Amino acid sequence: MRLTVVSGLLVLPLAAAKSLWSDSPGNYSSIITTAFPLGNGRLGAMPIGLPGKEIVNLNVDSLWRGGPFENPAYTGGNPNVSKADALPGIREWIFQNGTGNVTALYGDFPDYGSYQVLGNLTIDLGDMGAVSNYRRSLDLESGVYLDQFKTGNVDITREAFCSFPDQVCVYRLASNRSLPAITFGLENQLSSPTPNVTCQGNSISLYGVTAPTIGMIYNARATVVVPGAKSSSNYCSPNNATVNVPKGHREVLLIFAAGTDYDASKGNAAAGFSFRGEDPYRQVLQTATSAAKKSYSALKSAHLKDFQALSGTFELSLPDPNNSSSKPTTELINSYTLPGDPFVENLLFDYGRYLFISSSRPGSLPPNLQGLWTESYSPAWSGDYHANINLQMAHWAVEQTGLGDLTEPLWRYITETWMPRGAETAELLYGASSGWVTHDEMNTFGHTAMKNDAQWANYPVSNAWLAHHAWDHFDYTQDAAWYEETGYPILAGVAEFWVSQLVADEYFHDGTLVVNPCNSPEHGPTTFGCTHYHQLLTELFTHLLTTRPKTNTLHTTLSKTLPHLSPGLIIGSWSQIQEWKLDLDTRNDTHRHLSNLYGWYPGSSISSPHATNRTVTDAIATTLYSRGNGTEDQNTGWAKVWRSACWAGLNETVNAYAELALAVQENFGPNGLSLYGGSVPFQADANFGVVGAVLEMLVRDKDLSYARLDAAQNGGVGGKVQVQEIVLGPAIPEAWGGGQVSGVRVRGGGRVSFRWDAEGVVDWCEFEGAGRGEGLEEVSFFVKGGGAIQC
Ligand SMILES: *[C@@H]1O[C@H](CO)[C@@H](O)[C@H](O)[C@H]1NC(C)=O
Ligand SMILES: *[C@@H]1O[C@H](CO)[C@@H](O)[C@H](O)[C@H]1NC(C)=O
Ligand SMILES: *[C@@H]1O[C@H](CO)[C@@H](O)[C@H](O)[C@H]1NC(C)=O
Ligand SMILES: *[C@@H]1O[C@H](CO)[C@@H](O)[C@H](O)[C@H]1NC(C)=O
Ligand SMILES: *[C@@H]1O[C@H](CO)[C@@H](O)[C@H](O)[C@H]1NC(C)=O
Ligand SMILES: *[C@@H]1O[C@H](CO)[C@@H](O)[C@H](O)[C@H]1NC(C)=O
Ligand SMILES: *[C@@H]1O[C@H](CO)[C@@H](O)[C@H](O)[C@H]1NC(C)=O
Ligand SMILES: *[C@@H]1O[C@H](CO)[C@@H](O)[C@H](O)[C@H]1NC(C)=O
Ligand SMILES: *[C@@H]1O[C@H](CO)[C@@H](O)[C@H](O)[C@H]1NC(C)=O
Ligand SMILES: *[C@@H]1O[C@H](CO)[C@@H](O)[C@H](O)[C@H]1NC(C)=O
Ligand SMILES: *[C@@H]1O[C@H](CO)[C@@H](O)[C@H](O)[C@H]1NC(C)=O
Ligand SMILES: *[C@@H]1O[C@H](CO)[C@@H](O)[C@H](O)[C@H]1NC(C)=O
Repeated sequence: MRLTVVSGLLVLPLAAAKSLWSDSPGNYSSIITTAFPLGNGRLGAMPIGLPGKEIVNLNVDSLWRGGPFENPAYTGGNPNVSKADALPGIREWIFQNGTGNVTALYGDFPDYGSYQVLGNLTIDLGDMGAVSNYRRSLDLESGVYLDQFKTGNVDITREAFCSFPDQVCVYRLASNRSLPAITFGLENQLSSPTPNVTCQGNSISLYGVTAPTIGMIYNARATVVVPGAKSSSNYCSPNNATVNVPKGHREVLLIFAAGTDYDASKGNAAAGFSFRGEDPYRQVLQTATSAAKKSYSALKSAHLKDFQALSGTFELSLPDPNNSSSKPTTELINSYTLPGDPFVENLLFDYGRYLFISSSRPGSLPPNLQGLWTESYSPAWSGDYHANINLQMAHWAVEQTGLGDLTEPLWRYITETWMPRGAETAELLYGASSGWVTHDEMNTFGHTAMKNDAQWANYPVSNAWLAHHAWDHFDYTQDAAWYEETGYPILAGVAEFWVSQLVADEYFHDGTLVVNPCNSPEHGPTTFGCTHYHQLLTELFTHLLTTRPKTNTLHTTLSKTLPHLSPGLIIGSWSQIQEWKLDLDTRNDTHRHLSNLYGWYPGSSISSPHATNRTVTDAIATTLYSRGNGTEDQNTGWAKVWRSACWAGLNETVNAYAELALAVQENFGPNGLSLYGGSVPFQADANFGVVGAVLEMLVRDKDLSYARLDAAQNGGVGGKVQVQEIVLGPAIPEAWGGGQVSGVRVRGGGRVSFRWDAEGVVDWCEFEGAGRGEGLEEVSFFVKGGGAIQC
């Protein structure tokens, strides 16, 4: 517990919510809800914390079966002949009848594959007898796991972390007297074919392929180092491929490295869409060997320097009115109930950032549905990428919380995995000669086409939703070189595709351009003019129009198209935000998705230009009330944190907090991982989404693109608006009174820190405008209720 002193006055004790801990071990029957996860973006490790026969569940993010590794003719689901001839008929039917189907565009998706677990590291200390003083913890600021216990009169301490600088996970056992004999092993249960496990020079290698004929090659290596032992000591048992360290040492280290021959840069036509890189064996050996030459303290200090530089860019400190910091966090989360506990909310907020740092690092894949932590060979939904809310939610608040540098995996994944196959899909299914498209569900092998009759998978506007994140990365960082090289090509390719798909509305004949066919994520009919699509396209076209010169060809097209685009904001017969251009919404339809509110949150096409229009905000509230609290339809965690963020955007603090608390009550396991419908499977989206929902309560920072475009159209050449208005603490719950936050990044690149009083009204702030580009707006700050504040 820390005490914060402001101007000599003692204020509320703030929660030191920076670690997860428990006074009992996790459980190997339920690893995913009890073990604490470690990761360096590429490698994942979950120590269970069992004193005697410890197991550490291991992952490497690229380990997938399926794709070209099982079928060299793999096409990403794309057909071998164009199906686009069907589109005019599909459109005509829909314009005639209002709704229709896209059956003629369906595809097969053989060899889609699945993410899967790599194996177990086993660490057997023998029978420990009775242990006492047990405690295990995961420090979210340092990314270090620790467990300790007493057996006889010996204290044993085990520490672990996954290092980004050294690309290994490190596990250390230490005792204040003498460690027992320890047997280390690597195992997995694959039998088709069974991997080879060998031991040489105190180093165990597990080497295998995912399928008998072709298969992805994977290799894991565990190298044991015994400081102080004779350099000639060979503890390998060749028969069972284990390392057996005799008793009597004070310290034993293990270095874990792993890799596969997956290579996303080979996911294009020039490389035959092979996705195949080099056999990982040599690289893994080299990585493990060079890390094993370093001392534990050198490995740890490099890790700490790297990790703390990321975790430390931001800090949220909420009060701890219930003195929860004294209780095991596993119990606190397990027994959490409404109305809530600020300590737990702070903890899960920190954990969301921790999990992102641990699963998204330059060179890794972006976080999948499970981040990168699975204990299963067939995780739910293939542990894939769902891009109709889930992959996006993982990135909701990374820019605002100082983790923008860690978004590289997303851009690389889009560029290397989606764009090449997605350009084919655009042509083969939609007859688009430029741009690219992808549908909701994606593997790591360029699956961009539709699936069969899986309506939820056949959602083609994922590309525009991801372009929103590319825009935000630029808006928060002002990194013009990045935008030029990476961001703009993503936005432009998506816009080119959608421009080719807009058609004159032949249902209402109102002179607008609509998307036909379209469908809302996982909900409702196939129809035309889905408002969700039009919100996304309004946003995308506006972004492109405010960042490119008018001489650009695409710019010219977009400036002609945007004024005719059918609106994404339509208020319907019962004062709701319509989900489709036809007023088909059913009152009290409690569907989990809030697609028609995309433009309110996380999008901006409604919330930035229309947030002060009461007709609009009342319609948002009506829609939210109608959709229920998120328990009704599958009780998912992500649906609740999305609702929370939407309520926060309305300044409906009580509802925003209640939804956040409801998510925590219903959807989080004892180790803090979020559980899809309240029980396994684990799905990481709500863990990440908590961060976004909390940020929406803390800061309101509009996307100025709409105002800039207006300004440009009204004669201003630069499209510059006068002031960037930022509201600090628009929806801070009463329970969080007296808290503070530091390091919040705002649009334009500045960073703000602030504190608030017992009522949640901000009363102190500090602004660092660094990073703001030439010609941007002045920044001014406001607080709850509308008063101005000087930062
Ligand atoms: C371990 O988990 C299983 C399955 O969830 C449960 O049945 C068992 O009681 C747990 N054991 C302990 C010691 O918590
Ligand atoms: C094209 O794909 C279809 C369906 O998968 C298959 O039946 C057909 O044989 C393929 N044709 C060619 C020329 O490969
Ligand atoms: C699907 O739409 C097509 C026109 O695109 C139509 O021919 C077909 O009958 C429709 N199928 C169903 C089940 O409505
Ligand atoms: C509209 O749907 C009906 C069936 O409900 C079908 O008979 C008709 O052909 C459809 N219209 C068009 C233009 O395809
Ligand atoms: C190890 O430390 C514990 C206290 O942490 C103590 O009880 C025990 O006597 C110590 N053992 C040795 C051999 O120093
Ligand atoms: C890891 O160990 C647990 C407990 O023995 C076992 O259930 C699981 O199948 C193992 N996982 C792998 C990937 O070998
Ligand atoms: C395992 O080793 C055997 C014998 O050297 C070899 O035939 C087999 O291909 C190896 N398996 C893998 C997966 O490399
Ligand atoms: C492996 O063999 C060694 C030496 O024969 C033995 O001490 C150890 O218990 C064995 N380990 C396992 C897991 O069978
Ligand atoms: C508020 O929004 C409604 C619905 O979009 C619109 O009809 C009305 O003109 C807006 N009011 C103002 C003042 O902009
Ligand atoms: C039904 O939806 C309306 C909004 O249209 C809302 O006010 C009402 O509370 C909802 N009723 C139930 C039972 O959820
Ligand atoms: C959520 O909504 C359901 C269904 O309307 C209701 O039974 C439940 O009490 C609500 N939960 C909370 C915490 O408001
Ligand atoms: C929320 O409150 C802030 C500060 O008073 C205000 O600027 C903003 O317009 C409000 N938003 C809504 C939707 O009421």
